[in-house]
Amino acid sequence: MDKPKVVLGVSGGIAAYKACELLRRFTESGHDVRVVPTASALHFVGAATWSALSGNPVSTEVWDDVHEVQHVRIGQQADLVVVAPATADMLAKAAHGLADDLLTNTLLTARCPVVFAPAMHTEMWEHPATRENVATLRCRGAVVIEPAVGRLTGVDTGKGRLPDPVEIFEVCRRVLARGVTEPDLEGRHVVVSAGGTREPLDPVRFLGNRSSGKQGYALARTAAARGARVTLIAANTGLPDPAGVDVVQVGTAVQLREAVLKAAADADAVVMAAAVADFRPSTYAAGKIKKKDGQDPAPIVLVRNPDILAEISADRARPGQVVVGFAAETDDVLANGRAKLARKGCDLLVVNEVGEGKTFGSEENEAVVLGADGSETPVPHGPKEALADTVWDLVAARLE
Ligand code: CTP
Repeated sequence: MDKPKVVLGVSGGIAAYKACELLRRFTESGHDVRVVPTASALHFVGAATWSALSGNPVSTEVWDDVHEVQHVRIGQQADLVVVAPATADMLAKAAHGLADDLLTNTLLTARCPVVFAPAMHTEMWEHPATRENVATLRCRGAVVIEPAVGRLTGVDTGKGRLPDPVEIFEVCRRVLARGVTEPDLEGRHVVVSAGGTREPLDPVRFLGNRSSGKQGYALARTAAARGARVTLIAANTGLPDPAGVDVVQVGTAVQLREAVLKAAADADAVVMAAAVADFRPSTYAAGKIKKKDGQDPAPIVLVRNPDILAEISADRARPGQVVVGFAAETDDVLANGRAKLARKGCDLLVVNEVGEGKTFGSEENEAVVLGADGSETPVPHGPKEALADTVWDLVAARLE
């Protein structure tokens, strides 16, 4: 099979160095990448780097290798064009159809999906000119990833950072596999919890669980691709923030509850994918608990944590809010799942079978989604993103 052909456009921003990591992700996962930097981008990362990392020639101007008619052919042959970083100037040129170098020509000749990953100072991102250019590009079917919030080039912070290259790659992988997703969740706010809570015993020890957070992150990423505003409440995942998602980091079940209740106040849907500890130690030792010679360790006394899923299901923050829970079961998976759905009072329950080597930390999942209306939707073994899409299909149907 031919390798998918990707054009990586790089425009002139300091975040150009992060595009090297994105390029590596593409080449290592079997894509044929043609890097097309602008002249300004070469001030930050030189042509030799792009050429060595991609294994392909690198041109900036339409006057290089004119006999190959590169300004037409590169775009025509591409399966995907991604511009990362996309500067304010690049967005403006793309929105207005200017074609004064190889990258802008490529954008005009490409008939494949186009992804822009903007990076710039907050003022530039918020300027009405840039807002209009982004709206124009989206309206034409381009995917424009929301920049991340954080440290910018100098000492200042704000919205405008290039999202983590891993997450730009995830967006591109989805677009290559499925085309540009219909924004059926546009105008909706969804809340997803992910990861596993940690309940501290003392400053160095905690009771935790083996949830990786990957399913919750796949849910957040998928909802963002479908146009939703997404708040991700992340408990101890250590994963990079999904592009275009607001991430709130928490540690314990009590902190997770507080963050979920706050975000759920105006949410259309809440998906509780986090593994929340049912119990926490009744006391927290301010100093490290020391072993004492000749003495047995003191037993750990546990108290119940609040059941967040049951609470938000019983007391919906908005009429019509859809609440989804997860259940990890080892035995009598469906019967236990039905009983749990009734007990928690949610609208949908995603039931996984777990055990040695199953689900935890893996890239794949297999589940049955049970509905309070008696429905049963099996999701065959596959990527966590496919399960996420099924969950959002079922949520979207209930939001209508
Ligand atoms: N959950 C929650 N708050 C808790 C415990 C769990 O919101 N204190 C949520 C999880 O996020 C998940 C669902 O409830 O969506 C199922 O969690 P699970 O631990 O399997 O359910 P339990 O009711 O604790 O049942 P059991 O441990 O008996 O299997």
